[in-house]
Amino acid sequence: METIKTIIEPFRIKVVEPIPFTTRAKRAEMLEESGYNLFQIDAQNVTIDMLTDSGTSALSSRQWSALMLGDESYAGASSFHHFKNTVKNIFGFSQILPVHQGRAAERILFSELVKPGNIVPGNAHFDTTRANIELRGAKAIDLPCKAWVEASDEDFLGNIDLEQLEDLIQTTGADNIPLVIMTITSNTCAGQPVSMHNIAAVSKLLKKYDIPLYIDAARFAENAYFVKNHEHGYKERTILSIAQEMFSYAQGAMMSCKKDGLANIGGFIALNDSDLAERLKVNLIVSEGFPTYGGLTGRDLETIAVGLTEVLEDDYLNYRAASARFLWRGLNRLSVPLIQKPALHAVYVDAALMLPHIDPEQLPGQVLASELFLEGGIRTCEIGTAMFGKTNEKTGKQICAKRELVRLALPRRVYTQSHFEYVIEAFANIQERKDKLSGFSIVHEAPVLRHFTAVFSKVLKTSQSPVML
Ligand code: F0G
Repeated sequence: METIKTIIEPFRIKVVEPIPFTTRAKRAEMLEESGYNLFQIDAQNVTIDMLTDSGTSALSSRQWSALMLGDESYAGASSFHHFKNTVKNIFGFSQILPVHQGRAAERILFSELVKPGNIVPGNAHFDTTRANIELRGAKAIDLPCKAWVEASDEDFLGNIDLEQLEDLIQTTGADNIPLVIMTITSNTCAGQPVSMHNIAAVSKLLKKYDIPLYIDAARFAENAYFVKNHEHGYKERTILSIAQEMFSYAQGAMMSCKKDGLANIGGFIALNDSDLAERLKVNLIVSEGFPTYGGLTGRDLETIAVGLTEVLEDDYLNYRAASARFLWRGLNRLSVPLIQKPALHAVYVDAALMLPHIDPEQLPGQVLASELFLEGGIRTCEIGTAMFGKTNEKTGKQICAKRELVRLALPRRVYTQSHFEYVIEAFANIQERKDKLSGFSIVHEAPVLRHFTAVFSKVLKTSQSPVML
């Protein structure tokens, strides 16, 4: 029985990368120059970068040494076999196709499976998944469990709503549904996990209608952590065996290895259907590369193979959860409104509740993200109307998103507790002046994915109409 309860980083630091510090005046200048758009700010001016947990992991010494073993042969490289055998062991599928990142897996898989007019249901599709489905002329439908929409204390808020799924199959017809995708954890549902029970139940339902189930496995180890710690009957199981069980219910998986692959680039498609795999390989060769490297170097394949093994370690996942909890609790103590449950890959702030005086039309999430940069050089990401809303062409008004969130993503093995203390202090300072913050309007926007390049401007709210500052 261990007597020390503190969960510490299960590593010591061998290489350090200096982080930049800037003055408040300089940050104010940069915000104005960038049109209050944090995607337009250079990383060299960001003190704590919480824009994404994707491709931002720190590599371990084991990964750096594996990287030196990278076999860069065009065909049949030993690094491919290392990668393939590791993926096979965890995911249990026989056909493994490497790709350069998750969205390439989506594009290639859907090019074979999805036809115009099809419906692709899921618990909550990630935006590139949705975009790749829509590019095929099909429709992506999210059927998250009711608990997420209504806010709840349940543990598995990423679950798919089974009743809605069956209703949809019956009204659409199973022939029109080429696959169902379960995203674990559900990034679009604030990183909330999916229970084993739900995966098994969806699989059983889909078998009845002969519809294949695919898993978007970007954060599968974090999902397995939740199953182990919150689902009855899994406490004594290893994360590996939980992962193996999760995938045993599916016909295939797609993964962006930039998350739980603990790698900076990479992904794969995994499945058992060898005929389908042969067809996918044709597309893979044309658009990514030969099927034993799929757009990756031998070094990348080695890095992912080691990363996929390290991500399953209890010490790593316990520390990951503890650090997410530390940030979540610190903000909760300040009464910052948060999504009900701490996820592992990010903490989500409800900006509409934090800044209730700013109408969703005036982008409270973008205002908060910009204020965090001003306060501490902290870069986060708005997930609300700036990202998912639209400008009504006739009225010029915003068609708002369902929620106005700000995501504080947690790069893996990168920041320590004192970095999070710094972020918490920045929030404390903003809490004190939050009532004085004014909203934003959109001055310029691109026709698609507007959040990357949009230019925002501060508005001064009057009783009549918004006035530009
Ligand atoms: N699926 C999920 C659940 C994701 O979160 C992402 C990426 C992808 C697929 C696409 O993978 O980036 O390798 O092409 N999410 C990143 C994020 C971009 O910041 O959440 P990719």
